[in-house]
Amino acid sequence: MFGYRSSSPKVSLTTDRLIVRLVHERDAYRLADYYSENRLFLKPWEPVRDDSYCYPSGWQARLGMITELQKQGNAFYFILLDKNEEEIYGVANFSNILRGSFYACYLGYSLGEKWQGQGYMQEALQAAIRYMFRQQKMHRIMANYMPHNQRSGGLLERLGFEREGYAKEYLLIDGKWRDHVLTALTNPEWSPMP
Ligand SMILES: CC(C)(COP(=O)(O)OP(=O)(O)OC[C@H]1O[C@@H](n2cnc3c(N)ncnc32)[C@H](O)[C@@H]1OP(=O)(O)O)[C@@H](O)C(=O)NCCC(=O)NCCS
Repeated sequence: MFGYRSSSPKVSLTTDRLIVRLVHERDAYRLADYYSENRLFLKPWEPVRDDSYCYPSGWQARLGMITELQKQGNAFYFILLDKNEEEIYGVANFSNILRGSFYACYLGYSLGEKWQGQGYMQEALQAAIRYMFRQQKMHRIMANYMPHNQRSGGLLERLGFEREGYAKEYLLIDGKWRDHVLTALTNPEWSPMP
């Protein structure tokens, strides 16, 4: 956990309807499909994405960096897939992981347009958060949303995230600095590494 890992961690979580697993270098085509299919839908909720998000070649380069971060335990990028692992329904990223006296990270996520409103993200995040708390020993997971993003706010509330503040012009989303509601979930069962 603290040192450099030579191989990528292989984590695959099974929920009632999904496989929730860490991305690996063979996911470039699936990720390009997900971002190209949902480009317009996700635009108001995300940073401006360059065209490389819609091409496997762009993802090959990005996945190289992501798998390095995962090897080092600095970030974990999960994808939500159908049980045959053919199509990506959504993504859930735990990033900027710090340990020491913090043991905290940020959570970001999105779900494809056609999978909205069916409980998929809640189902996936319950499993992924359990993994981050139990296996990665996180004590705090932080997630922030724009005040008008009611779907995101509702999701975080159902998962038990609590509001901690309000940050003005906090993130550059769709090309503009946007206010965000700051929330976090803490792990009541946290224990130090053995
Ligand atoms: C934020 C986002 C992931 C939430 O997706 P979602 O589908 O609303 O989230 P959930 O998985 O929790 O699903 C809950 C919805 O499914 C419904 N649902 C249907 N079947 C369900 C089931 N078996 N279990 C739970 N909920 C179910 C719930 O009633 C709820 O619908 P409602 O909000 O219309 O009442 C999604 O809207 C999204 O990707 N938005 C764009 C990107 C984005 O905003 N990212 C976050 C930036 S902070």
